[in-house]
Amino acid sequence: MLSPRTHTCGVFRAQHVGADVVVQGWAQRVRDRGGVVFLVLRDRTGTVQVTIDERSPEAVREAAKRIAQEYVLQVKGSVVERYKPNEEMQTGAVEIVATDLEVLSSTRPLPFSISGETDAGEDTRLTYRYLDLRRPTLQHNLRLRHDAVLAVRNTLSEQGFLEVETPILTRATPEGARDYLVPSRVHPGQFYALPQSPQLFKQILMVAGYDRYFQIARCFRDEDLRADRQPEFTQIDLEMSFVTRDMVMAVAESIARAMWHTTRGVDIGDIPRMTWHESMARYGVDAPDLRFGMTHVELTVTVAASTFPPIANALSEGGIVKGFVVEGAAGDTSRKVFDAWTTFVRNYGMGGLLWGKVDGGDLTGPAKKVLDDAGTLIDALGASDGDVVLIGAGDAPSVHAGLGRLRVHVAKERALIPEGEFAFCWVVDFPMFEPADDGAWTPMHHPFTAPRAEDLELLGTDRMGDILSDAYDLVCNGSEIGGGSIRIHREDVQARVLDAIGIDADEAKARFGFLLDALAHGAPPHGGLAFGLDRCIAILCGADSIRDVIAFPKTTSAQCLMTDAPDVVPSADLDVLHIATTAEG
Ligand code: AMO
Repeated sequence: MLSPRTHTCGVFRAQHVGADVVVQGWAQRVRDRGGVVFLVLRDRTGTVQVTIDERSPEAVREAAKRIAQEYVLQVKGSVVERYKPNEEMQTGAVEIVATDLEVLSSTRPLPFSISGETDAGEDTRLTYRYLDLRRPTLQHNLRLRHDAVLAVRNTLSEQGFLEVETPILTRATPEGARDYLVPSRVHPGQFYALPQSPQLFKQILMVAGYDRYFQIARCFRDEDLRADRQPEFTQIDLEMSFVTRDMVMAVAESIARAMWHTTRGVDIGDIPRMTWHESMARYGVDAPDLRFGMTHVELTVTVAASTFPPIANALSEGGIVKGFVVEGAAGDTSRKVFDAWTTFVRNYGMGGLLWGKVDGGDLTGPAKKVLDDAGTLIDALGASDGDVVLIGAGDAPSVHAGLGRLRVHVAKERALIPEGEFAFCWVVDFPMFEPADDGAWTPMHHPFTAPRAEDLELLGTDRMGDILSDAYDLVCNGSEIGGGSIRIHREDVQARVLDAIGIDADEAKARFGFLLDALAHGAPPHGGLAFGLDRCIAILCGADSIRDVIAFPKTTSAQCLMTDAPDVVPSADLDVLHIATTAEG
């Protein structure tokens, strides 16, 4: 019979010696040493050793023979000092001598071991997620997630923010991904969209006067998934009225500070800022990892006179040339490695990689052919004897992407990234628009981001590419952990921006009429930001994937292996929704 527990497993210390206790939990380990059974009992708080020996009644000794790993047990007994303390166990000074033992639940054979690390494949772990979640790593990660969210709620509440929930069944919000749609039964042929973010609702809350809103918000995006992207994920979403960019960034910093301090005891210090252009020039990406060097060097002017075809062709087509140095790598970088790096950058659209080793003030390899005078190139790159130089030429987006990703790839391969460090930075002054595939302009953030006031006059002109926005991204260890902006709060400016990206007045009214209407009813100047909570927690836990910090994540093909979602539904259910599918069921 279930009795109320007196203690949880992890609490026992020397001071408990002599206490009569009732504990419940899972049998993490069961060892039978010739009639003496040592049982390690686990619950969420930790483990404690239970001993069943001649001090235990006969019936308990018999019952102990029938228990196995991960059985759910209730143990009654008294706490005694351990003959040989176990320093590795938090409760290792004591043990419980069982006077009663009850099996509350048994288990089928386990597909993988629960204690410690497992070598089970991720698919197996996700199928049996309830077992995976019992493992110490995931218990730690979810605990840390709780602590971080609590710290965020407290710090925002202290700063006057109100937590408000916004709808899940709503209209499309354009964050750049595809929407998940939900059919309406009562409105045949009509669909709700799940929110890609609460963006429009939080702006409308500002119009409604709810200055300082936040929400731990679930967002849904149907996009290509990878280690740091899930189809449903969580944002720490916030919005403020009557603010400048600096004021929003200060609140965001207070959130990061609270999360990092509470969970890791780390003071993140002052967060440096760099412009988007600077980030692209020095790191090739808009979320730079500042934990290591190998910054890019602009070489376009240095090599302007080069007749070497890869350089000359790139320059004649308006391209750029950049390079970076891998210090001291000449000795252990083989031809095979250079070939692999070349294949790597080709995936990002670069034609090839001009590599070389610095040797006696001269260069070896294809880099030697870039200039007759190798010394000029070596000096421009800041390289020395024994270094490797890597140079890329081509159109700017490919060279940035190729060398930017290669910088991180080389750092990982050569173990140049320090463990346990957190390097934050803000990236600001983003271009407002970027060219889309069809030649039109598309917003780099979302279309509700305000252009800088001084660039407003460029809207709709042939200088759209020069307009900078009042947007800011927060980056940690090369991962974009948050992003936001000052918003457009005037209906006429919003209509002009929508028009500039090819959304005319009719379409704007159909898709975002409610926002434009709200902006026309006394909208305060406002701005905000959203953190990717899962990404923050993954960095704080040192997890490789955000799947390891989400209780029930999906695979990279957007499936839940435990519930087997998504699944076909009976045709009668589709009929009710007025839906016919063309897919094979
Ligand atoms: P954004 O689209 O940049 O901005 O999203 C904010 C942050 O959310 C995280 N993120 C994701 N995390 C996991 N899986 C995904 N699929 C995913 N997509 C994004 C990133 C990102 O920085 N409404 C705006 C915010 C604003 O302007 O206030 C927005 O959603 O860490």
